[in-house]
Amino acid sequence: MGSGRRVLLRPGRPVRYPGCLVIMSENLFLTPGLARAGHYAELYSQLEALTTTEPDLTANLANTAAALRQAFGFFWVGFYVVRGEELVLGPFQGPIACTRIRRGRGVCGTSWAEGRTVLVPDVEAFPGHIACSSDSKSEIVVPVFKDGKVVAVLDVDSNQLNDFDAADQAGLEHLMQLAAAWF
Ligand code: SME
Repeated sequence: MGSGRRVLLRPGRPVRYPGCLVIMSENLFLTPGLARAGHYAELYSQLEALTTTEPDLTANLANTAAALRQAFGFFWVGFYVVRGEELVLGPFQGPIACTRIRRGRGVCGTSWAEGRTVLVPDVEAFPGHIACSSDSKSEIVVPVFKDGKVVAVLDVDSNQLNDFDAADQAGLEHLMQLAAAWF
């Protein structure tokens, strides 16, 4: 095996750490050289295994954000959770970010209001984009549905222009189907 991003040699084999109550594999397995679509598929099965045994929402959102950032090196990955008429910042990986976004505002609020994935190749060209960091250049926001309603959005930012395509959209939407069970 090459020297790419992979740390788990036996996928699915539990590891026991002293003081850790949950027995699980805390490492990701990512086959070196795969296109993103392949890595999304690998992430899906590992996150499914990790989260079906964990009932805590925060734990599952946090590990998902961490896994996506670890796998792809995105600039910022995180969740905003619906709280009344606002989205409130949830577990994330990356620089600090704005904490509350109103429905319909920015990319996240648009994704929530319209109940669809919003893919933004150039954030400066998106009217009303909320700039938490000037380093963010492109973005994709995917809603999480529970019983037909949006309960959260996954926000992924890249420091490169045009970094997301249909493969990212498909991979992230598939992952967010898992997330419904966490709410
Ligand atoms: N750019 C987002 C705000 C959240 S940050 O990117 C983390 C938006 O326009 O909704």
